Amino acid sequence: MPSERFHFPEWTNRLTRLLPIIGGAAGLYAVTILALGASPETTDVGYAPQQPVPFSHKLHAGQLKLDCRYCHTTVEEAAHAAIPPTQTCNNCHNPADANGSVATVSVHPNSEKLLPVFESQASGAPIKWERVHDLPDYACFNHSAHVTRGVSCVSCHGRVDQMEVVQQVEPLSMAWCLDCHREPAPHLRPLDRIAQLDWVPEEASEVIGARVQEELGLNPSTNCSTCHR
Ligand code: HEC
Ligand code: HEC
Ligand code: HEC
Ligand code: HEC
Ligand code: HEC
Repeated sequence: MPSERFHFPEWTNRLTRLLPIIGGAAGLYAVTILALGASPETTDVGYAPQQPVPFSHKLHAGQLKLDCRYCHTTVEEAAHAAIPPTQTCNNCHNPADANGSVATVSVHPNSEKLLPVFESQASGAPIKWERVHDLPDYACFNHSAHVTRGVSCVSCHGRVDQMEVVQQVEPLSMAWCLDCHREPAPHLRPLDRIAQLDWVPEEASEVIGARVQEELGLNPSTNCSTCHR
């Protein structure tokens, strides 16, 4: 367990020392989020909501080897990783017309599983995908800041390319974030391996990670304001 080294006391101590200093509104804010928030060990690990379409990452990202960024196009530039629009699915999946003929090359044009995709294509209304990962609003996360600095999807989302249904595999707790921010090297890899979830380093990952950290000059912040604004 990576979060083992950062027990509750370590950061709550910091918090206790900080409270009198930040005081006033900020103190109230921290107390409120303390009340709203869960303990660092409270997690949604295992959360895997049912989706409107039985879309399989194991098939599309694993077997077909589609790159994560083919669909999650904004992950390197933006805070959020875009969920693909129906148009992306239509690149390969189009419905058969009333006569059963398919104009373009299409995979499974008569599939019942794809009905919501075809309906969305016809109506223009987006598919209502269920969110899997969701941080509380008082914590800010940024994908670009990680995937352009040598942190792979696999460090935070696990082997999505082997998942039939996406599920949360890490706690996404503050202790978990800080665990890596304090000692990132073992989690860093060359930038061209970011979306290769099955990558096996040819040397010890600490050695490679330390090199990446030095080359990119990485020094993840543990200041409250980095993640709480
Ligand atoms: C063909 C398009 C496609 C590809 C390729 C793809 N994804 Fe996805 N991804 C989706 C869709 C659609 C959803 C929303 C439905 C779901 O959760 O399964 C999604 C959801 C997710 C989620 C959950 C988002 C949330 O709601 O929290 C994660 C994490 C994710 N993808 C990671 C990856 C990773 C990592 C890869 C590469 C290994 C990848 N995806 C490749 C289409 C794709
Ligand atoms: C350092 C950890 C980390 C890395 C690396 C990471 N993610 Fe995420 N991802 C998260 C967190 C945390 C959330 C929830 C964000 C929120 O609720 O604001 C998330 C949410 C998502 C979502 C849902 C949409 C969103 O942005 O909230 C998708 C899709 C996703 N990630 C895909 C990916 C893909 C693809 C990669 C690799 C190219 C990747 N992630 C790399 C931590 C990470
Ligand atoms: C690059 C092409 C490609 C893209 C883009 C793509 N798929 Fe697929 N999809 C396939 C292929 C190929 C298969 C069938 C594999 C097989 O049957 O062996 C498939 C199968 C499926 C199936 C199973 C259908 C059945 O009846 O068994 C579903 C559901 C599905 N895709 C949903 C989606 C969704 C939703 C999207 C968009 C987020 C999407 N696909 C994007 C190529 C694609
Ligand atoms: C596996 C390692 C890892 C995990 C887990 C991780 N981070 Fe990071 N984070 C990094 C690295 C590496 C950087 C880049 C540091 C740099 O650029 O010097 C970074 C940068 C950031 C930045 C950008 C700071 C800036 O100055 O631009 C934010 C915000 C951030 N992380 C928030 C989070 C949050 C919130 C979580 C937990 C939900 C999290 N991180 C989990 C490794 C990680
Ligand atoms: C690297 C990012 C990061 C940094 C730095 C950070 N936090 Fe957090 N913090 C989070 C995340 C993510 C959560 C939400 C955790 C959850 O959902 O369980 C959180 C939750 C909290 C909570 C809610 C209570 C709880 O148990 O989850 C408080 C209070 C808090 N942070 C205070 C602080 C203070 C004070 C600092 C500075 C000493 C700080 N945080 C630094 C990411 C960070």
